[in-house]
Amino acid sequence: MAGLMVDLQLLRHFEAQLDPLHPEAGTVPVQVLGYGEISTVFAIDGQELAYKRMPIFQSSAEIDAYEAIYDRYNQLLQEDVGIALPRYGRARVPGRQGVDVLYLVQQRLPAGSIGNQALHWLDAQGALRLVEAVLGELAKVWEFNRGQDQMQLGIDGQISNWALADFDPSAPHLPDDLRLVYVDTSTPLFRIDGQEQLDAELFLRSAPSFLAWLLRWLFLKDVVGRYYDFHAVIVDLIANFYKEQQAELIPDLVQLANDFLSRQVGELDIAPITRKEVEAYYRQDAFIWRLYQGARRLDRWLHTRLLHKPYPYILPGPVQR
Ligand SMILES: Nc1ncnc2c1ncn2[C@@H]1O[C@H](COP(=O)(O)OP(=O)(O)O)[C@@H](O)[C@H]1O
Ligand SMILES: [Mg+2]
Repeated sequence: MAGLMVDLQLLRHFEAQLDPLHPEAGTVPVQVLGYGEISTVFAIDGQELAYKRMPIFQSSAEIDAYEAIYDRYNQLLQEDVGIALPRYGRARVPGRQGVDVLYLVQQRLPAGSIGNQALHWLDAQGALRLVEAVLGELAKVWEFNRGQDQMQLGIDGQISNWALADFDPSAPHLPDDLRLVYVDTSTPLFRIDGQEQLDAELFLRSAPSFLAWLLRWLFLKDVVGRYYDFHAVIVDLIANFYKEQQAELIPDLVQLANDFLSRQVGELDIAPITRKEVEAYYRQDAFIWRLYQGARRLDRWLHTRLLHKPYPYILPGPVQR
């Protein structure tokens, strides 16, 4: 594995004392850096690392398989596609349910360098430059895919998955030579001969069982497939600006993306983006996730209050969309 040193003893202790209902209230001082649909990203005070906790596995064999795919995906992105990643590693520690919990570890990047947080100090011009740089990185993936017979890579282009390299929090500014780092490698999506390598069912585990059928249908078809489609990934990236409360930038972003795509003429041949589809997509996406998060909170309530069973996942508070 790519070498980041991890203090296993501290991590074991952290997992043992973690209360998923109150992740920041334990004896190990931590801060939640981000909530994902299945994972939670922590920083332990005084350390330069970001820990992404993956409590979804039911056996060591499942972790082995996931780790192999995770490492391969990181390697493909970094070495074959040419996208920069933070230094990374991983560690597993005993979980309370008798199965190990996997922690993906990355060099911790400054909060203000993460795309969606950078939007708060960037002006409109800067935001457009940031998105243009993201499009440039994403195009590398589809250029790579175009040259492959068997392998196809997927990627989640959302603005919150990118960080500005060499960022100085004390003097935030966009350098002329804007370089990006991709952080969200925990959903390693690639297909070999059309076969998804990751067991995408893993990602349904944290969903309430009463929604599993709905999600299997929505998620495995639509949500996973979307990451292999450059047009859809761009629509998702732009629609994010509603969630980031910067909807006023959307017309310019659509223009920017279409200018970008027209410069790639003949090579990638991606249909232009329309404002209408960005809006329609956002409405549908926001609806699905609101429903999903609501159902998870209900599921947690059922577990803890009604059945008096532990609920292992950490849920975000209400997210504004
Ligand atoms: N290496 C890192 N350094 C600092 N913050 C991070 C790092 N990795 C993730 N984060 C924060 O956590 C959020 C979620 O992480 P991400 O890897 O995108 O997982 P997911 O979206 O699957 O939950 C990011 O948007 C970012 O704010
Ligand atoms: Mg992410």
